[in-house]
Amino acid sequence: MRILVAGASGQLAKALLDTAGGRHDVTALGRPTLDLKDAASVARAVTATNPDAIINAGAYTAVDKAETEEPEATAVNVGSANLAREAARRDIPFLHVSTDYVFDGKLDRPYRESDPVGPVGAYGRSKLAAEEAVAAADPRALTLRTAWVYYHEGANFVRTMLRLAETRDELNVVADQIGCPTYAADLAEGLLKLAELRVADGQKQPGGVYHLTGSGETSWHNFATAIFAGAAKRGFKVPAKVNAIPTSGYPTPAVRPANSRLDCSLIEKTYGVRLPVWPDALERCLNAIALHKPG
Ligand SMILES: NC(=O)c1ccc[n+]([C@@H]2O[C@H](COP(=O)([O-])OP(=O)(O)OC[C@H]3O[C@@H](n4cnc5c(N)ncnc54)[C@H](OP(=O)(O)O)[C@@H]3O)[C@@H](O)[C@H]2O)c1
Repeated sequence: MRILVAGASGQLAKALLDTAGGRHDVTALGRPTLDLKDAASVARAVTATNPDAIINAGAYTAVDKAETEEPEATAVNVGSANLAREAARRDIPFLHVSTDYVFDGKLDRPYRESDPVGPVGAYGRSKLAAEEAVAAADPRALTLRTAWVYYHEGANFVRTMLRLAETRDELNVVADQIGCPTYAADLAEGLLKLAELRVADGQKQPGGVYHLTGSGETSWHNFATAIFAGAAKRGFKVPAKVNAIPTSGYPTPAVRPANSRLDCSLIEKTYGVRLPVWPDALERCLNAIALHKPG
């Protein structure tokens, strides 16, 4: 299968390239060759690669910066519809990635696809606008909302914790935001399986919005504690103390949802796709990081 991945340098794009391996012919294209905002560049990239399926791993993802750059965040993310339009025109599957930030995080259970949306920040609003634009451009597109994505490369919570631990003996980590960490390798595997199923059945199964994160749930503080337990076993320097703090103790320009948990039962029921539990995924990520550890 030939797969075009939009967004070449991001952590999910890298994970898709790594995971697809020899299984598929994957081309990942980013700016300037493929700029989501530029319909002509998107059309040229799709024509040049002639794919059997398109996966959009590109997005404006700077959550805090989006608060002061909302028009740019919206233009890039709504630009995903340029890809969706090309996919619909060619009758090939389009898989788009969205976020838990479309919700306000106030619900006391994991969010289902049928729950009302209500983003509390500019990034969430831009991603919600993207979901709507994608659905309008290609009603058969699959939009996968995920959360708390990390990989053994790129900028993410796991690597930030390990970097901070190199110079600090004590860290404060927010304990009142809960969600499910999603290892990009597992998300990539899930997306590839969905693309394979969509190609095989000629997109007969319903498209639309689905939730897809790692399984289980935790807080950022508990996740950090697990990262350091695993890192210590692998010979990394870890802090002596990891303090649990409230969100109010770590102010950021953008408000984060307190509850980022997504109920992923619909995608499992419809497509048989379920991602592994987060502690197992974290072990695999730390193994990959340890492989490249200097010394
Ligand atoms: N990270 C998370 O915790 C998280 C959580 C929920 C959902 N998501 C969603 O998951 C997807 C993948 O996220 P990620 O963590 O892999 O993000 P990432 O590492 O920040 O990568 C984003 C990618 O998008 C590209 N991009 C930015 N503007 C573009 C444009 N105008 N045209 C084409 N490409 C553009 C960037 O390329 P440049 O190098 O050119 O900037 C980069 O390769 C996104 O849809 C994101 O919203 C992420």
